[in-house]
Amino acid sequence: MSERAASESANLRAAKKITTDATDSRESHDLAVVVRVGLTAEKKSLPPWLFYDEEGSRLFVEITKLPEYYLGRAERRIFEKYGEDIIVQAQANDTGTAISFAELGAGTADKTQSLLHRAVEMFGTVSFMATDTSASALDIAVERLHREEPSIVVTPVAAKHEGALRAIAGLPHRQFVMFIGSSIGNYVDADARALVSDIRQALLPGAAFLLGTDLKKDPSVLVRAYDDAAGITAAFNKNMLVRINRELGAHFDLSRFEHRAIWNEAASCIEMHLVSTVSQIVSIDALGIQVRFRRGESIHTESSVKYTEARVDALLKSADFSREISFYDDEKKFAVHIARAGGASALRDGTRVK
Ligand code: AVJ
Repeated sequence: MSERAASESANLRAAKKITTDATDSRESHDLAVVVRVGLTAEKKSLPPWLFYDEEGSRLFVEITKLPEYYLGRAERRIFEKYGEDIIVQAQANDTGTAISFAELGAGTADKTQSLLHRAVEMFGTVSFMATDTSASALDIAVERLHREEPSIVVTPVAAKHEGALRAIAGLPHRQFVMFIGSSIGNYVDADARALVSDIRQALLPGAAFLLGTDLKKDPSVLVRAYDDAAGITAAFNKNMLVRINRELGAHFDLSRFEHRAIWNEAASCIEMHLVSTVSQIVSIDALGIQVRFRRGESIHTESSVKYTEARVDALLKSADFSREISFYDDEKKFAVHIARAGGASALRDGTRVK
């Protein structure tokens, strides 16, 4: 065993579950606070993380199986087809470079698994730090990877981005951080730049960053992906109101709100809204407030940015990354970009000097 491999395996043995309660630096994750702020604003909105209670997470899995919702399938095909090229690129074409794999918002890590499997074929053993706010999703990831990929040593980190990035900052080898699934799409402009900058801050110069983005395309294809014929996305959107009814004693009548997905050309994003079909007042008991809706007034629940290469380049550049290569599915609907962290190159081999 080489010295590097020996120290890696010592490291992996020492790996243990990390949990932090750190809250995101810029955004409140307190349900009562975001609902009060969002529904008393001039333009009403609710943050997309509110989708993902148990039912919402289940509905999202249903969405990924819909014929109209191509995103997950396209990205999965990219990993299957280009897995080895992606990993070689992450090594900066130096096949001797040891890599610490990490994923932000890994969930159950099922899409990442094929990439990690390729890495096992190439390296024999792989260290993978899976981070997510959902500890139960990570439990599923750890259990399945242990069973199906015993050569992967998984370190689950149940934390929000800030805590996750702290853990990623301490990884021993050339960091390869993945943020897939068009998750970046929910962050608009300054928020996206701030998040990618935070990721950059957690990395050494020469580290690799994999970003999965949906691509700008015919708006009718996009609208269908977010307003499917079976009405699953509508249920997913309305589930936010169900959650607020349950958790804050609100009195939203679902039959008086409509799901709407619209293409915003200027912002190059799909927006999801819940539109009040009547003029109405909704009480939220736990907040002691009444929210007035005009007929046709909407609650903006999600933006999903659709990227061009130029916009990806600008985003990465603003955070001191440079895009090296992009991989596409055969229909060029989705893209996986590999970028390099800039800065001094003294630490080229990815070894962390303490
Ligand atoms: C999980 C943010 C990637 O924007 O496509 C799916 C969420 N919303 N259908 C997306 C979503 C409606 C999804 N992301």
